[in-house]
Amino acid sequence: MWISAEKIDMEFGGVRALKSVSFQAHTGKLTSIIGPNGAGKSTLLSVISGFQHPTRGLVSFGNDVITNWKPYRIARHGIVRTFQKTEVFGELSALEAVEIGAMRRRPATLSHMFDGRRAREPLRRDALEALELCGLARQVGVRCAELSYGEQRLLGVAVALASQPRMLLLDEPASGLNQVDAHRLGKLLTSITDQGIGIILVEHNMQLVMSVSNYVIVLHHGEKIAEGLPADISRDRAVIDAYLGAEYAA
Ligand SMILES: Nc1ncnc2c1ncn2[C@@H]1O[C@H](COP(=O)(O)OP(=O)(O)OP(=O)(O)O)[C@@H](O)[C@H]1O
Ligand SMILES: [Mg+2]
Repeated sequence: MWISAEKIDMEFGGVRALKSVSFQAHTGKLTSIIGPNGAGKSTLLSVISGFQHPTRGLVSFGNDVITNWKPYRIARHGIVRTFQKTEVFGELSALEAVEIGAMRRRPATLSHMFDGRRAREPLRRDALEALELCGLARQVGVRCAELSYGEQRLLGVAVALASQPRMLLLDEPASGLNQVDAHRLGKLLTSITDQGIGIILVEHNMQLVMSVSNYVIVLHHGEKIAEGLPADISRDRAVIDAYLGAEYAA
């Protein structure tokens, strides 16, 4: 199954943030979207997840055209995103924050939240599993506000993962992570795709992108200027000139 974006245009007043962008992203694969600041990467994630409706173009997932669906409906359909800006869960514990993510998957249990501990068991199980997978097992009881910046980025992934998506859209999950934690995140992303979940990754950490991606899309000034396998993208002259610079030239 795959997400297909066809000829997406997005205009904000006079700004053309996306210009006829088409691409596909498959479940079980990791597709990265890279490009300079302001290239339109976050806007493209917003269009796919229903947070913004495109000026023109179509988004489909399997047989469903989802272009004008609302975000909650798209999420229930299995496409879940994280945000570039760290989400604020403040006073909640890490476990409670991820339980909210798990609730998106089991909406019937929302009312059960008030029925005591037994009804919360399935939510708790899903949440603990997601926290463990994200390497946050020891932070279960820690207040979100007390987590390090890097841990908060990982928590965002755990919240999204707990809703058991079919496609996970991640906006710069490695920002603020040191190389060790970024490497751990890479392993996590690979284990997620191994489970059959698709990932669309927006990221500036090129070491991470090049090591985990099955396929790479390059945006520049709202246009797709290249797509292909990581090894080919890192050698692409237009991509090197626009974004990668000489350091990644093979
Ligand atoms: N809601 C909005 N209203 C007006 N302009 C917007 C809006 N969202 C994005 N833009 C503009 O669209 C362009 C693309 O922005 P976008 O945030 O998608 O870039 P990006 O590739 O995610 O950049 P970065 O790497 O810095 O996160 C920019 O020129 C931005 O100023
Ligand atoms: Mg962005």
